Amino acid sequence: MNSIVHPILANWHDFARHAQDRMSESAWAYFDGASGDQISKKNNIAAWQDLFLVPRVLKKFKSISTQCNLLDQTFDWPIVVAPMAHQKWAHPEGESAMALASSALSVGLTLSIQSSTSMQKVATIYDTQKSKGPLWLQLYWTDLAEVLNWIQQAKDSSYQAIVLTVDSAIQGVRDDQIKHGFLLPEAAQSVHFKHKEKNLVSTNFKENLLRQLKQSATWSDIETLVKMSPLPIILKGISHLEDAKIALEIKVAGIVISNHGGRNLDTVASSVDLLQVIAPFIRNHEKQYDKKRSLLLVDGGIRRGTDIVKALALGADAVMIGRPCIYGLACAGSKGVAQILKNIQTEFLTAMGLLGCSSIAEISPEVLKGKW
Ligand code: FNR
Ligand code: LAC
Repeated sequence: MNSIVHPILANWHDFARHAQDRMSESAWAYFDGASGDQISKKNNIAAWQDLFLVPRVLKKFKSISTQCNLLDQTFDWPIVVAPMAHQKWAHPEGESAMALASSALSVGLTLSIQSSTSMQKVATIYDTQKSKGPLWLQLYWTDLAEVLNWIQQAKDSSYQAIVLTVDSAIQGVRDDQIKHGFLLPEAAQSVHFKHKEKNLVSTNFKENLLRQLKQSATWSDIETLVKMSPLPIILKGISHLEDAKIALEIKVAGIVISNHGGRNLDTVASSVDLLQVIAPFIRNHEKQYDKKRSLLLVDGGIRRGTDIVKALALGADAVMIGRPCIYGLACAGSKGVAQILKNIQTEFLTAMGLLGCSSIAEISPEVLKGKW
């Protein structure tokens, strides 16, 4: 896993360009695309870049550790691959390659329920490595019985938590997908949902939209689910502080602050802006009332190790990384994913060293200039 895949693929820009060359226009529109004018997608990246670091020097290092604690377990890296559907469309080995690489690099993995490989197969591959990250399954709400059924299957396959995505009751309007078509090959269809994808839909847009909104979960559904689920529930797609507060009040295991990589509602505030509102409130509240630390993850626009340092400095426990892993996958299967993850880990560790931080606990708001 240490060998370089290709000397010209030094960073995520190179991987993105090379991935685009290898994909059809339709696949690229799906994997790299976002909604509307892609403002949120671009802003997610720009906002991390616009935060500036201020290093401390002359520190005496005895050790350096990137270990973190997620749901009462210790892991080597505060990094989890974000759930992304239909990965066999990016590379024939799809989710299997993603699982092998992330597990080998001790990075966590969230499998999308819209995966083109079964959750059981992915779990078996992920399990082959010794020092792995957390393995989570992402679900959408359908109904309580079905969701509980998925959760039981996930538990049986040794997934450790459920990431329930709550920002996608309806899909965003994605111009590139409209232009190039969503020409999903048979092999990349969701294995868990094959029978459902041919759902009868009305031709009336408003009717369709309302039907989907009516079918989506409410807070009371989530509250029931949290009580009944045999696995911890993490809510993904929290943007508003008030929603974050409700989520924690009803005792979800954690939240992922996310605008879905800008793929749903365009011009939603960047992940940095969302994190900067939610994290200080939650962390101060915990301190004030002597409460257990809540699990806060963030995703959207994480491209460099320095972005991870910034996310942790702002109060996140870990980050999820989406598109860069797809670029790696499309370029060279598991080797490509491994290389892009390795690049990001190298950057993260280097940033910690140069900032004078020898552990995750030492990455405080003090490493950031200005905004805090
Ligand atoms: C996604 N995302 C996503 N999220 C989810 O909860 N379930 C899913 O099945 C998918 N599918 C999916 C496919 C593709 C191609 C992409 C790019 C994204 C959203 C994903 O989990 C994550 O929130 C964003 O991708 C994070 O932003 P970055 O890292 O891609 O900028
Ligand atoms: C997406 C869905 C699958 O973003 O969440 O494409």
